[in-house]
Amino acid sequence: MQALLGIDLGTTGVKAALFAAEDGRVLADAFVDYPLFHPHPGWAEQNPADWWRATLSAIRACLAAGSQQGVSPADVLGLGLSGQMHGVVLLDERQEVLRPCIIWADQRSDEQCRWITERVGARQLIEYVSNPALTGFSAPKLLWIRDNEPEIFARARTMLLPKDYIRFLLTGVMAMEISDAAGTCLLDVKHGSWSQEVLQAIDLHPALLPPVVPADAPSGTITPQVAALTGLREGTPVAGGGADNACGAVGNGVVTEGLALVSVGTSGIVLAYAGTPQVDTSGPVPRVHTFNHAVPGAWYLMGVTQGAGLSLRWLRDNIGLPERALERWTGVDAYETLEQEAASVSAGSDGLIFLPYLQGERTPHLDAYARGGWIGLTASHDRRHLVRSVMEGVAFSLKDCFAIIREQGLRLEQMRATGGGAKSPLWRQIIADVLGVELVVTNASEGPAFGAALLAGVAGGVYRTVQAACDQTVRVVERTLPQPETASAYAGAYETYRALYPALKPIISRPL
Ligand code: XUL
Repeated sequence: MQALLGIDLGTTGVKAALFAAEDGRVLADAFVDYPLFHPHPGWAEQNPADWWRATLSAIRACLAAGSQQGVSPADVLGLGLSGQMHGVVLLDERQEVLRPCIIWADQRSDEQCRWITERVGARQLIEYVSNPALTGFSAPKLLWIRDNEPEIFARARTMLLPKDYIRFLLTGVMAMEISDAAGTCLLDVKHGSWSQEVLQAIDLHPALLPPVVPADAPSGTITPQVAALTGLREGTPVAGGGADNACGAVGNGVVTEGLALVSVGTSGIVLAYAGTPQVDTSGPVPRVHTFNHAVPGAWYLMGVTQGAGLSLRWLRDNIGLPERALERWTGVDAYETLEQEAASVSAGSDGLIFLPYLQGERTPHLDAYARGGWIGLTASHDRRHLVRSVMEGVAFSLKDCFAIIREQGLRLEQMRATGGGAKSPLWRQIIADVLGVELVVTNASEGPAFGAALLAGVAGGVYRTVQAACDQTVRVVERTLPQPETASAYAGAYETYRALYPALKPIISRPL
């Protein structure tokens, strides 16, 4: 048996999954969650110590489940890391974490974004790092710490991203993998090296940044201490791995031109493979990102909606209390019950529109302060409409991303759907209907962990290239066709949705 281990450090928890190298089938998996803190509105932090504890437990549980399938640690040829992007983990000279990680969803650094843009120059910034300064990205978060917590910043010696911090603990190697480094706003995305121009313009010492490493090559090996803590074999190779979206793309075979991914996780994304580092020219500022892919020498364009699965989770936890209670009594998942309720309402939710801006919005508004809400509520609506309109509002926001990417002239021949939200047949159908395209689902049921494991396979020489890994292991297993009968309802609702943000901006976009 040849097995590969993928680890995905997500926003709600960490997943460890073991796959058969031969055909990618899942041998075992484990998920362990951890808390997310919102110390102020618009802020989002996590504790790296929580990630580490959870990662150790997930690896142990996954190996235990694997051993029941006859897989031993000696069969694990390599481990690949995937994770939430953009979070800033600061280490001091003793390599201790200096403060909680400010994660991707955090919106506090708008002022720093403006400062970076001024210092570097708006046009030059795009020239140097292919992206504008956005609150989601790492550099503005780092500068927020410099401006607001100077005593902490003065002690900082290294900045790592979430999964790269886990790499450090697993292997002792400090490195930043390229597809994740792309989201710092400090990487020259065209050439894959730190942008000295930007670092200089914003007075950041290059020594804060570790070396950039490739996604599909070994980056280190499991230390004896971690072997003792987890049961992994000492010396197991750890590959560069990739950002969660890049690994989601790899795991779904989005590794050649013409293929794109739509993902509904905590955030929602539309990502299209790009053979060149082309930049969105649809407006004065790029509204979709240009990042390095985990496929060497490739890039992708990606639109991000900040609150996708997050919006439905918020609804479940605050309005879906009866469904939650039922879950405790019957064991039927609250999301499933909510979805059944939503399915009984017609497309367009009888005129109720939800704006999913619960943590600001990236594509298309690039507005850290945007707030969400329902518009068009009448006495004839009920809870079912609330649920369906949330699913539709997220789909509309994904359509905004899709439309911009399509305008860039990329071939979008097949869209592959992934993420927890896309497991719902109703949500998938709504997205297919709103986008007006077929969505296919692959066997990548474990999400980015699968892509990370495939990258470990390439690093270990099991597969020749990332594309070869996908050819050998990724299969389409399901298709969702758009239903023509919903087209006009959704066209009208989307038009209203698009009109709402500009009309409401003065009211719903206010500093926190
Ligand atoms: C992408 C982004 C999110 C996180 C979530 O730019 O911020 O998709 O990667 O995990």
